[in-house]
Amino acid sequence: MSVNTAIQLITREQAENAAKSAAAGKATATCSPALAKGPWEYDLAEALAGVPAYGPGASNADVAPAATPRQGQLPEEYKLASHGELDVRIRAAKEKLGSRAVILGHFYQRDEVIQYADFVGDSFQLANAALTRPDAEAIIFCGVHFMAETADILSTPEQAVILPNLAAGCSMADMADADSVEECWEQLEEIFGTEKDDAGRVPVIPVTYMNSSAALKAFCGRNGGIVCTSSNAKVVLEWAFERGQRVLFFPDQHLGRNTAKAMGVPLEQMPMWNPRKELGGNDEQALLDSRVILWHGFCSVHKRFNVGQIEKARADFPGVNVIVHPECPMEVVDAADSAGSTDFIKKAIAAATEPTTFAIGTEVNMVNRLAAEYPQHTIFCLDPVICPCSTMYRIHPGYLAWVLEELVEGRIVNRITVADNVQESARTALERMLAARP
Ligand code: 13P
Ligand code: SF4
Repeated sequence: MSVNTAIQLITREQAENAAKSAAAGKATATCSPALAKGPWEYDLAEALAGVPAYGPGASNADVAPAATPRQGQLPEEYKLASHGELDVRIRAAKEKLGSRAVILGHFYQRDEVIQYADFVGDSFQLANAALTRPDAEAIIFCGVHFMAETADILSTPEQAVILPNLAAGCSMADMADADSVEECWEQLEEIFGTEKDDAGRVPVIPVTYMNSSAALKAFCGRNGGIVCTSSNAKVVLEWAFERGQRVLFFPDQHLGRNTAKAMGVPLEQMPMWNPRKELGGNDEQALLDSRVILWHGFCSVHKRFNVGQIEKARADFPGVNVIVHPECPMEVVDAADSAGSTDFIKKAIAAATEPTTFAIGTEVNMVNRLAAEYPQHTIFCLDPVICPCSTMYRIHPGYLAWVLEELVEGRIVNRITVADNVQESARTALERMLAARP
């Protein structure tokens, strides 16, 4: 059963008989019954009154910046169409477009969208997938904004990258904006200076997680820095430590902390930078003694996982294999059997030769899809509450049908374009990452 269908049922049954579902071993709670509605209900700013601006399910701590893109109104016909009708229309448009369009789907997308993807993968694999199709005029990215930006940077200028719903951002990526990072950089330069040490290392190297705006990737490109993903963060940090005395890591504190800790960096040498405070809330000596300065960012989906859930899984399923994403808090990663990117999780399950019970700490759409793909194993999400990524949720088959049918008519809607001057430096940082691969 897809995550969407499960949310619809929970919402209905909450009013009727949740107890019956519980007895049948079905999930009985969602973080927001509003997720059962069409995402177009939240396309207008006013419609978000009482709901965090990232949409239903987003944590209230996630404050969307004023400049967060808004999606205009989806034409009525797509809102009213049944799934069956949208299915026929999407398949027909895909057929007409043929190799002119390629659809990319991130692991966290709903099943109702993933079924149309030509490539399914993590953010890095999808960026590469775009490169394998230089013949395609349009790359329809069913993922979030930073992924579409990366595809635009890596694709040819003739190719148009389309994000079916412009409101599909990433609250974590938005936690580090270019101005705040520039301000932080200036303060750090004042403390560290710009002189290299005897080993030829600069005072600090900026490292940005793939989950960041193109502007921040460009910042890293301009300042001797690099991009990383959750699958290559260790290799990238090694690259950075060869060239720098310390690292400024943004926006995800957890990926930075978990990776550096596994490499032996003591927690005392990882101060946190809070952009709302002077010197990020640190004293000068703490910054001078640091090895990794962690930006105060987090993913609200992965923040939901906790040690109690792992303890419960171990009590309920002795021998359970607990795998979590490194965006989870450190205590969760420490309590799990292993931690790794979405691709790592997928490969770990694929490699299990004996029927195994897996408890997974990552986005629920991906976990449920893995459970359906590998029926020989028992696979469940550590979080018993169904809470998909609220921005990925913004992409619905209705938007996909709309952008595809517009393309058939020769119109490009929702194009994501990174300015040329930003592209150049951002590509430098991305290319350093590609070259740093083991
Ligand atoms: P991946 O880089 O593994 O695709 O993860 C992206 C993401 O948003 C994780 O929350
Ligand atoms: Fe961003 Fe978290 Fe959603 Fe990934 S799961 S896109 S980090 S909000």
